[in-house]
Amino acid sequence: MGKIILTGDRPTGRLHLGHFVGSLRRRVELQNSGLFDKIFIMIADAQALTDNADNPEKIRQNIIEVALDYLACGIDPTKSTIFIQSQVAELCELAFYYMNLVTVSRLQRNPTVKTEIQMRNFETSIPVGFFTYPISQASDITAFRATTVPAGEDQQPMIEQAREIVRRFNGIYGDTLVEPEILLPDNAACMRLPGTDGKAKMSKSLGNCIYPSDSSEEVRKRVMSMYTDPDHIRVEDPGKVEGNTVFTYLDAFCRPEHFAQYWPDYSSLDELKAHYMRGGLGDVKVKKFLYAILEELLTPIRERRKEWEKDIPAVFDILKRGSEAAREVAAGTLADVRRAMRIDYFDDTELIAEQSRKFQG
Ligand code: TRP
Repeated sequence: MGKIILTGDRPTGRLHLGHFVGSLRRRVELQNSGLFDKIFIMIADAQALTDNADNPEKIRQNIIEVALDYLACGIDPTKSTIFIQSQVAELCELAFYYMNLVTVSRLQRNPTVKTEIQMRNFETSIPVGFFTYPISQASDITAFRATTVPAGEDQQPMIEQAREIVRRFNGIYGDTLVEPEILLPDNAACMRLPGTDGKAKMSKSLGNCIYPSDSSEEVRKRVMSMYTDPDHIRVEDPGKVEGNTVFTYLDAFCRPEHFAQYWPDYSSLDELKAHYMRGGLGDVKVKKFLYAILEELLTPIRERRKEWEKDIPAVFDILKRGSEAAREVAAGTLADVRRAMRIDYFDDTELIAEQSRKFQG
């Protein structure tokens, strides 16, 4: 069996730089590495509905935004299958069977579910669909026999839950499903990119995001007003780089060759940090450097997005074809699952003969 990727995003808004460094950039690298036999990228609309049931229009409007972000960032529909979760009905069927393999207390212990319940103030009024979304996510992954799930740190408990379900299923019904592995970002700054205000997470509601679809001017404004070290008041003052958002972003985006290109006074990020910590280096200069790096990264993305925006029907066509292709693959897994679970009544030619014998003998 070859290596297969499945990963996805909830379509609740445009994707931001946190998504980009946390997983999107990696997906594109993996896609182009040629090391994977198949790559599935899923727009998780059904999962988004688990806590947006009363606002389906929000999900509907954001399908195309996420699809455009994928294409703009370099997901290539000839190499990767982009599809919409709700269009693959087999995923619901699989989740329904997995529900028998997971206990309520196990779901209650899932750290991601725990924090998300707190974040949304659900307390005791948790929708059942939301509470059980780790099970649905396990079916997303296993329906495609994914070996590898590139995702952020916050998805780790989801993958762990999926692995448990696979082990339990294979234990009861025989070897059928593939146990997936998470592929985390290899750089600590990319694990959880803070918002431009220094808050722990980029989030639309906090207004602290940079989007790959932002204009050059919007990016400049965001970078220039970024949170740095509040005690670094005069240029001469020594500065702190830990917790300094500009440096966290440099950790995530800066490569050695950026110095030769944009700031030959320094040869490495360590050297730049050392100067900042000694004092004598102003925030504005560092911010301009970061802005140059982000612009280099974002300009081609922005241009590709503009191109795709001119042909929205083509984007929907990619999603439709992708969903059809995904459905075929998931249906193949479901056939194996039904056989393993002994619910393949009409495909089992032995069954009728066997039952006949039982009643006649
Ligand atoms: N839970 C993921 C998120 O919130 C989205 C998602 C749904 C996903 N199904 C998945 C990610 C399967 C990886 C694999 O971003």
